[in-house]
Amino acid sequence: MSETVLEIEGLQTFYGKIHALRGISLNVPKGKIVTLLGANGAGKSTTLKTISGLTRAAAGRITFRGQEITAAAPHAIVRMGLIHAPEGRRIFKGMTVQENLDLGGFTNRGERAEKQRRLQYIFELFPILSNRRNQDAALLSGGEQQMLAIGRALMTDPELMLLDEPSMGLAPFLVQAIMKIIRKLNEQGTTILLVEQNAKVALRLADYGYVLETGRIVVEGDSATLREDESIVKAYLGGGH
Ligand SMILES: Nc1ncnc2c1ncn2[C@@H]1O[C@H](COP(=O)(O)OP(=O)(O)O)[C@@H](O)[C@H]1O
Ligand SMILES: [Mg+2]
Repeated sequence: MSETVLEIEGLQTFYGKIHALRGISLNVPKGKIVTLLGANGAGKSTTLKTISGLTRAAAGRITFRGQEITAAAPHAIVRMGLIHAPEGRRIFKGMTVQENLDLGGFTNRGERAEKQRRLQYIFELFPILSNRRNQDAALLSGGEQQMLAIGRALMTDPELMLLDEPSMGLAPFLVQAIMKIIRKLNEQGTTILLVEQNAKVALRLADYGYVLETGRIVVEGDSATLREDESIVKAYLGGGH
């Protein structure tokens, strides 16, 4: 058994009276890619937001590297090595690519030299960002903005990355490019919890998957098992993606 980086037990989250998470339990082992799948509105983003402290859990327990973080502040969670790259990129337009990356590193109390090393690493992963470092982030294409969002998250040198639909709105060749980067990051030691609506793409990359439906996990298993089980694909992962 490999070490567990993230453990969630019985997680429940509400938005007012809307019961968005109805008891989620899942594990993310160190060094793996785990994917959280499900239709629009299933609770995928809420799960990530609750883990990173942006939304409060009403019940349940979240443990990161053996420490309970259920009620911890978002910045404290980031400092522990858990970063959330939210849905929709949220890059800062009107700021350059470089400035966006610098902001990602502001929680990184490390020395200037350490930040410089992170920047170098990110520019090696995404040479296009290096070429455009002095351009306004608003001028980047959708795929490049996604790369910037991932790059900014990487400035914190995370142990665990939560990625919310990084393939959203991208042309197929860019989806492949992003997935390749995620694989590379993982091979270099970052553990990943990947939220996707595109099950086919996610299951090709992930080791293990959970399927969420109206705030509950309805199916889980090794990616290969989920991919090959036609009844699961039909019932939960359809849509022809
Ligand atoms: N800020 C919010 N306020 C009220 N309801 C929300 C909010 N965010 C999400 N919801 C509701 O919570 C449920 C889960 O949403 P979400 O986690 O965004 O799903 P997914 O990411 O799987 O599409 C949905 O019913 C959605 O309408
Ligand atoms: Mg979502």
